Amino acid sequence: MSQTKWWKSAVVYQIYPLSFCDSNGDGIGDLQGIISKLDYLATLGVDVLWLSPVYQSPMDDNGYDISNYYQIDPVFGTMSDFQQLLYEVHQRKMKLIIDLVVNHTSDEHIWFQEARQSKSNPKRDYYIWRDQPSDIGSVFSGSAWEFDSLTNQYYFHLFSKKQPDLNWDNANLRNEIYTMINFWLDLGIDGFRLDVIDLIGKDIDRKWLCDGPYLLERLNEMHQSCFQGRDVLTVGECPCLSIDRVKEVTSGDDPLLSMVFQFGHMSLDEIPGKGKWDCKPLDLIALKQYFNTMQTQLHNQGWNSLFWSNHDQVRAVSRFGSEEWRYQSQTMLSTLLFGLEGTPYIYQGEELGMTGIKLPQVAQYKDIETLNMANEKRALGWSEEQILQSIYKKGRDNSRTPMQWDDSYQAGFTTGVPWLLVNPNYTTLNAHQDRQSMQSIYRYTQQLIQIRKQYFSLIQGSFNLLYEHDPELFLYERECNSQGLLIIANFGPNVKEILLPVYSKQQRLIQNDQSFAFSQNGVLPPYFAAIYLYTR
Ligand code: GLC
Ligand code: CA
Repeated sequence: MSQTKWWKSAVVYQIYPLSFCDSNGDGIGDLQGIISKLDYLATLGVDVLWLSPVYQSPMDDNGYDISNYYQIDPVFGTMSDFQQLLYEVHQRKMKLIIDLVVNHTSDEHIWFQEARQSKSNPKRDYYIWRDQPSDIGSVFSGSAWEFDSLTNQYYFHLFSKKQPDLNWDNANLRNEIYTMINFWLDLGIDGFRLDVIDLIGKDIDRKWLCDGPYLLERLNEMHQSCFQGRDVLTVGECPCLSIDRVKEVTSGDDPLLSMVFQFGHMSLDEIPGKGKWDCKPLDLIALKQYFNTMQTQLHNQGWNSLFWSNHDQVRAVSRFGSEEWRYQSQTMLSTLLFGLEGTPYIYQGEELGMTGIKLPQVAQYKDIETLNMANEKRALGWSEEQILQSIYKKGRDNSRTPMQWDDSYQAGFTTGVPWLLVNPNYTTLNAHQDRQSMQSIYRYTQQLIQIRKQYFSLIQGSFNLLYEHDPELFLYERECNSQGLLIIANFGPNVKEILLPVYSKQQRLIQNDQSFAFSQNGVLPPYFAAIYLYTR
């Protein structure tokens, strides 16, 4: 039964609205801008669009700080623009999911404005207040506690101090959230990406934050109150669930969440125990082990999402591939991802192999996490150069620079001054140019999406990792009912000789370098990738 869920064979495309397309020249992407690009997305072949938040927000964390869940922020447009977008998406046989941010609100949300007023305010308990702070730190540097002199108590904020955490112990709050979720579902959207949802089960007094003691009971209640009986896609951002927990949450015919985002592969280039800013080179064997575990453990027992990048992570090609071998390495990464079990996500610009950015000054960055980190590291004695190097490797603005549509003014993103600088490489790296080129990443992605829809082994097949201990090759087989697919990737710039498996028949479905011909003694060009259909 669960095999037939539409979202298992879907491909999702993430739009970061601030940076996608600006229709009115104010330098900020908006809903009409998105509408103007829907044909580009439909032609790519994606099934679902995920919009990062477009609700009313003071934009301290680019919309992940919501001040009104029922309003569209005026920089993006109006509720009628949203309804038009939804209609136009559905017209093109695509679906639309939106971000749901309910671990916290903005401090400018009316609930918090009221809660601050007095300890006896009816909304006080919607947030988390204590007389004394504990030593829990904020994800965005510093303490997670902020003193509010109005009532002489501290409120809790795991992210910026303008993002107070909601108190999920409060039943009234929970009901208001469910009413809001149902409002959007009744409007006809097709689901949600649930921001840091595993945090709603936390117990801060026990310092138990991720995957907390109340998570399952709250997801259950939310499911019963909102999602049950509706055929929607829900993807929970869950940075630290155990595999068993992922199974509990995503398995069965009517799972609590359709799928989760797991981040194990995103921390492999971090020095353990040091956090995201202290980096080391990626170890491909560790990456393969991670995927091997997830793939084999979740097969028939849960469902995962597949991604290399998003608005919080740097660009895939700059991080895992090579900007010098942009076409080869981006297509290699996409091939690997699309071969796996799970639902693939494309982050805007990934279908062009967009790269990260290196701005010369810290002050040119906009992301609150980046700026807070810079202050913190300065206080620890880091030089500006050291700070910049970390930002180049891990800063979130790397993936937030405006979409590069063509080689005209500001890459065709805006006629005004963009809110964040356009990557100067737009003159040669842009959607228009890519599609003119013999080596088009967009067209390659289009083909991958078609292959994904044609071969059920990609959705349901078993996973068999080959060459487990090779530090440069990533090969695996997917198999279901004698339909076999071999996914081949050379994860580096070296030509690799390889003994390929022997099948009775094999047929090429896609490959990123036409010079390669399948034979037992194969020679793989740099960043080579291919998918072959085989019969044993
Ligand atoms: C999630 C979002 C990120 C945001 C954070 C706080 O991780 O993806 O962009 O800053 O939650 O809402
Ligand atoms: Ca605009």
